[in-house]
Amino acid sequence: MAQIISEVSRTFNEFLLLPNRTRTDCSAATVDLRTPLARHIAGEASAIELQSPFTSAIMQAVSTPDLAIALARNGGLSFLHHNQPIQDQAAAVRQVKNFKAGFVTSDTNVRPDDSLSLLVDVMRRTGHSTAAVTHDGTATGRLLGLVTSRDFHPQCHDLDGPVSGRMTAIADLAHAGPDITLSEANARLWDERLDCLPVLATEGHLQHLVFRSDYADNKRYPHQGVDAAKRLRVGAGINTHDYQERVPALLEAGVDALCFDSSDGYSDWQAQALTWVKKHYPEIPVGGGNVVDGEAFTFLAESGADFVKVGVGGGSICITRDQKGIGRGQASAVLDVVAARDAFRERTGEYVPICSDGGLVHDYHVALALAMGADFVMMGRYFARFDQAAGAKLPTRDGFVKEYWGEGSNRARNWQRYGQGGQELIFEEGVDGYVPYAGDLNEGLALTIAKLKTTMVSCGSTTLQEFQSTARLTLVSDQSFQESHANITLRDTPATVS
Ligand code: IMP
Repeated sequence: MAQIISEVSRTFNEFLLLPNRTRTDCSAATVDLRTPLARHIAGEASAIELQSPFTSAIMQAVSTPDLAIALARNGGLSFLHHNQPIQDQAAAVRQVKNFKAGFVTSDTNVRPDDSLSLLVDVMRRTGHSTAAVTHDGTATGRLLGLVTSRDFHPQCHDLDGPVSGRMTAIADLAHAGPDITLSEANARLWDERLDCLPVLATEGHLQHLVFRSDYADNKRYPHQGVDAAKRLRVGAGINTHDYQERVPALLEAGVDALCFDSSDGYSDWQAQALTWVKKHYPEIPVGGGNVVDGEAFTFLAESGADFVKVGVGGGSICITRDQKGIGRGQASAVLDVVAARDAFRERTGEYVPICSDGGLVHDYHVALALAMGADFVMMGRYFARFDQAAGAKLPTRDGFVKEYWGEGSNRARNWQRYGQGGQELIFEEGVDGYVPYAGDLNEGLALTIAKLKTTMVSCGSTTLQEFQSTARLTLVSDQSFQESHANITLRDTPATVS
């Protein structure tokens, strides 16, 4: 006979945190959001830590190299999606690893014999007013000069004339060699009153441009997630089909962490794949999932998973529960897995971090997931709203939206994530739609982090470990849920309030 679990499947909306006593040393400025990413001896530090507990979903609509760069600069980690050829995913990893804060790959490039009118078009397209003139018009060609929008005027100069007639030639340009640091470059920008310093590699080929404004910009990110060589960290999703070819290519590209991406990770395939990765590449942290109960957590932890991702059916684009009747309320799933993680730690002395993936609708849900014992969260919808995500930004009557689609939708057709018995999706497990546009990730995430820190302060915690061990949560009734919201007629939206 089937086993009926008596406990009701609960969501984050059904819980609230009780404030704990706040000590005088406990303030947003003293809150430390570092959290472990990988399995480690309990009581010791994880070999790889996140500076803030946010990861972006392994989804085409979400984790682009641009988003990975922005998130790593804010202390989190992106997992680049695997529903693409191995060499493309490896190239995306390289793009993040090659990012040097303040060192910009020139995107506005022309040849010396290109016309000024073509240059105007290129500048309009990129929105940038400094162009590199290289022998072949590429970002890494031999640098012949720089031309800016201040070097010519349509009414004074013949726009059919060549760019070379108005550029500052390399012989008259300050430039630097490939080993210059950002602070050295910044010193030269000020000392020599430059707006832009080209950095050249061997034989005069352009490598990067350094602009004054980018140095100040870099100072805005004190908690960047970087490796020992100070390169931004990036993760990658993998699947149980082509991991034997994909994993070595990603490692070669410099990936920092891997995660098996499956809608149901409680499978022999995932255990075999985890065992293979840990046998051949023991150093690379590799996550498993997704699971929703302690039994499945223990199965993956015993198969070698360095962290375990929790969540089935709660994602904002997910219709797995409608289609297959499988899943569990995210709060119940996290609480059950956390209990198993703690039992595993007692039994083995090893701590396996947990990621709460999907279904985080409000900023405070992040705090609830962490208070319940998750070490970090993974979000799709949240990040899909930002400029750096992959979806197109589209105008609507009321503003802008961004496209967001599930990996199990017909648009993504990620059959590797969904075990439907072959190399295609037979039915959809995700939808394709829009999310409200939310601007720049840096600003949006700063706000979410500010809320998380103040919640932790109210709960008397300055670290996530303290938060997990001292948080007190209460279930809410329907009536108290109603009470949580504003209960007056709102000034700016009177028509929507009853
Ligand atoms: P969100 O943050 O609520 O949007 O959920 C994102 C999570 O949903 C991802 O990290 C995946 O675990 C999951 N997911 C992604 N695509 C699909 C889909 O098409 N169907 C079901 N779940 C999905």
